[in-house]
Amino acid sequence: MINEVYLIYFSPTHTSRQIAEAIVRGTGVEKVVTVDITRQDVGEVVIPESALAVVAVPVYGGHVAPLAMARLQGIRGLDAPAALVAVYGNRAYEKALVELDAFAGSRGLKVVAGATFVGEHSYSTDKCPVAAGRPDRDDLAYAEDFGRKIADKLLAAGSADALCQVDVRAIRRPGQPVLPLLRFLWKVIRLRRSGVALPRAPRVNDESACTHCGLCVRSCPVGAIVKGDELHTDQTKCIKCCACVKACNRKARVYDTPFAALLSDCFKERKQPQTIL
Ligand SMILES: Cc1cc2nc3c(=O)[nH]c(=O)nc-3n(C[C@H](O)[C@H](O)[C@H](O)COP(=O)(O)O)c2cc1C
Repeated sequence: MINEVYLIYFSPTHTSRQIAEAIVRGTGVEKVVTVDITRQDVGEVVIPESALAVVAVPVYGGHVAPLAMARLQGIRGLDAPAALVAVYGNRAYEKALVELDAFAGSRGLKVVAGATFVGEHSYSTDKCPVAAGRPDRDDLAYAEDFGRKIADKLLAAGSADALCQVDVRAIRRPGQPVLPLLRFLWKVIRLRRSGVALPRAPRVNDESACTHCGLCVRSCPVGAIVKGDELHTDQTKCIKCCACVKACNRKARVYDTPFAALLSDCFKERKQPQTIL
């Protein structure tokens, strides 16, 4: 029933991309059209009924990353089946999957599968790890298996009319121990009350480490770092995605947000991927 897959993602630090790619691999469909909206708008993309769309985006502040949502606006399905994936940093995804579902419903995409996966938190560092190294082998195996199950569902339905849509609100939320959550909320309140200014953008911590290789420039989704002026980040453009921090081989860049320590302390317990089909 499906002869191609549209692999659609916004993924500054590559976790959403890895998960979406694993799902697509699992479907076994050979023809893949990649729509990477991380660094630019791609204009209008029309997905036919004979194709499956796999859409993966990161969660920012419990919502679909705003820039991802803006760049998805050119995507339209002609009643095409879609699998929606919200990727979050082991804290919570809150409204993100429901927002993605609302987008899909208004754009001619038929939501036949949904998932939430965990990716290494953008703020994770060696000192304050948050879901470090995820998606790991188990996550990716789970994603591939999810892809296989989507393909099976499409095959079993036979025709587009017979295909069941899912209600992503029915997806199971992963368990969250209460005490660490309360500790996190308490710490956030204290942080806000303290009036400590949060950094508006990553910065170059060690100027001598910067070789002006331009990796940070190429990784930035919003052009906040300019070639030749790599020591500077335009705070008015920066979306704090930390792509530049993670792209730098020499660890010259840091984003020293106090949230890293809070998240690392309060969200240690591994959350597992959840899917609905
Ligand atoms: C500005 C910002 C806000 C974030 N908010 C959340 C959040 O609300 N909950 C959560 O669990 N992770 C949150 N994260 C972590 C990302 O969702 C997570 O690291 C994700 O894997 C990043 O996807 P990417 O690698 O495709 O860019 C946030 C990250 C950033 C940069």
